[in-house]
Amino acid sequence: MADTNPLSNCRLAFIGCGTMAEAIIAGLLRKKLVGPEQIAGSHPREARREEMHVKYGVEMFEHNRDAVKEVSPESPDASSMIVLAVKPQRLRHVLQELKGSLVKEQLVVSIVAGAKIETIAEELLHASIVRTMPNTPAQIGEGVTAWTTSAEVTEEQERQVCAMLEALGKAVRVENERQIDMATALSATGPTYIFLVMEALIDAGVHMGFSRHVAQQLVHQTLLGSVLFAIESHKHPAELRNMVTSPGGTSAEAIYQMEKGSLRTVLSKAVWSAFQRAESLGKR
Ligand SMILES: NC(=O)c1ccc[n+]([C@@H]2O[C@H](COP(=O)([O-])OP(=O)(O)OC[C@H]3O[C@@H](n4cnc5c(N)ncnc54)[C@H](OP(=O)(O)O)[C@@H]3O)[C@@H](O)[C@H]2O)c1
Repeated sequence: MADTNPLSNCRLAFIGCGTMAEAIIAGLLRKKLVGPEQIAGSHPREARREEMHVKYGVEMFEHNRDAVKEVSPESPDASSMIVLAVKPQRLRHVLQELKGSLVKEQLVVSIVAGAKIETIAEELLHASIVRTMPNTPAQIGEGVTAWTTSAEVTEEQERQVCAMLEALGKAVRVENERQIDMATALSATGPTYIFLVMEALIDAGVHMGFSRHVAQQLVHQTLLGSVLFAIESHKHPAELRNMVTSPGGTSAEAIYQMEKGSLRTVLSKAVWSAFQRAESLGKR
């Protein structure tokens, strides 16, 4: 049977092994998409290098260039990905350090918020770049990551990136970097909206007289179950809402108050403001 795993011949270097890099590494190994011998990582702190090595069996380097060199393709059928996973304020320094150390065939995948493909390409003198925008549930393999590529990225590399990002949950290809900013507002900032709604509902439960523990259980499962139901039923959210809104009932009363309080408009404005903020941060 043909090998359908696009990462079977790929070696990966993670530059900056913090929370997100660890989430990707753990997901890749858990799904058996790669073995630990295919992964190298770099980290400035020895304790963290030791921790990653013991936990996942991956080779760790103090210097970023050494991790990149370690995964250089050794044969024409081998491929290699460099994942930039440092905080945005560290990126320029890291790019300067890596300049000139990559071979043309290596693919650079950035998960750094706000970092433009053009900036990375210019700093690294390298053409094949993928820019991604994950979100925090990625840390438990339930995230969603928007991604887009520079023109030089090959179809095979696209398949590899998609497979790697699916280690974090779902991966959604978008058309351009403007849509990465849009995803920043919708899905990457998204958990913040949901957590606020979650908190408000739990507080409302406590206000009525539930213990916080009981209110939390009721709200968590209600949110989880509603999302799963919406996905599985394939119905429009308004249809699902109408199904439980009986004349003069509790849902009708609650919806009236939410519309009166402009909840829909507030959410829409919040997403739009976050989008404008993402765009302006990218211009700095
Ligand atoms: N966390 C999320 O859910 C999320 C969502 C979307 C996008 N992102 C993006 O993902 C990137 C990583 O986020 P994160 O949450 O994983 O951050 P993080 O946990 O701070 O990971 C970054 C790691 O890089 C290390 N580091 C610092 N300087 C370095 C250098 N010069 N070379 C190599 N490594 C260095 C840091 O070490 P120290 O611990 O010693 O500082 C840290 O362990 C960020 O750019 C962020 O914008 C994250």
